[in-house]
Amino acid sequence: MLTLGIETSCDETSVALLRDEADILVNLIASQVDAHQLFGGVVPEIASRKHLEVLNPLLAQLQKETAIQWQDIDLVAVTHGPGLVGALLVGVAAAKGLSYAYRIPCQPVNHIEGHIASNFLARPDLKFPMLCLVVSGGHSDLILMRDHGVYERLGKTRDDAVGEAFDKVARALGLPLPGGPWLEKTAREGDPRAFEFTPANLEPSLDFSYSGLKTAAAQAMQKSVKVQNEQGGESRVADIAASFQRSAIRQLRRNVERALERYPVATFGLCGGVAANGALREELKQAAEAAGVDFVVPDKVLCTDNAAMIAAAGYYRFLARPEAQQHFSLETLEFDTHSLLPVA
Ligand code: KG4
Ligand code: ZN
Repeated sequence: MLTLGIETSCDETSVALLRDEADILVNLIASQVDAHQLFGGVVPEIASRKHLEVLNPLLAQLQKETAIQWQDIDLVAVTHGPGLVGALLVGVAAAKGLSYAYRIPCQPVNHIEGHIASNFLARPDLKFPMLCLVVSGGHSDLILMRDHGVYERLGKTRDDAVGEAFDKVARALGLPLPGGPWLEKTAREGDPRAFEFTPANLEPSLDFSYSGLKTAAAQAMQKSVKVQNEQGGESRVADIAASFQRSAIRQLRRNVERALERYPVATFGLCGGVAANGALREELKQAAEAAGVDFVVPDKVLCTDNAAMIAAAGYYRFLARPEAQQHFSLETLEFDTHSLLPVA
């Protein structure tokens, strides 16, 4: 079975071709990071326009690289939320167009379900029940997965997502975009114990909170700039980055450890853009090993936004409910909103 994946929810335009559940034939990703650099963050209107410019050439490149005809495709899977509305619309319109023109069923995919599916691209044979930590620019979710498509949310952020905190702190530290990877790089040069940033603890809940940590790190930066201006001395940017990252990871690890104590699972999976962070990967691997649970984290390129994970999520969802497949006619261009991630 050949699934075409399309992802345009934020600032990466991506198309992928997946054979069956995990054979990635091609996964093309065009980042818009340069277009947003000047503004210090993603500008929604620029994102939509860039997707519009890039998506068709990317689809043409996919066809060229795989020598595929559109009529050979069995399913089109497209991200339909959550994300920037104008950006999502570009991918959804392309998917509907292909679906309508070539009579290919179209499967709308929830972006978070896409991130979860990236674990199964890495290892299709993972055992359930599975605990998933989804950490991205918009989400910090702890999810208990009993089967494909069967989710229970155990914890979520009460304010900022962890990726958002990485991005905002990176900006306060004067680092370029993308903030998360730059913060990680800068943290390697600093002392993680230089600043005491206490991680939020919302026990007994498994929820997260990152706004306090974000503010503490930004204030530490302001103070250190003032001291440097008045008294001279070394920049504290690397120490703040390292101390922030340590505290951010401690909170994630503590909640994962609590969840592993409370829920007997076979597997623990880490996914989402922040899962590309080397220090986080190492810490959570140790936590899983200590709990005697199988650990999985996808390759870094499959952690950040990509269409291969959307194709995989679409594949599982389509197989589970083939009757929910959608053929588009000009009269029915609506998606079935029931296919949103059924998180409790
Ligand atoms: O999943 P993703 O590509 O997009 C969303 O769905 O949000 O995640 C992007 C987030 C951004 O906040 C980015 O700064 C963060 O993931 N990120 C990282 C790293 N790479 C990406 N955060 C920390 N360390 C990294 N190496
Ligand atoms: Zn994402």
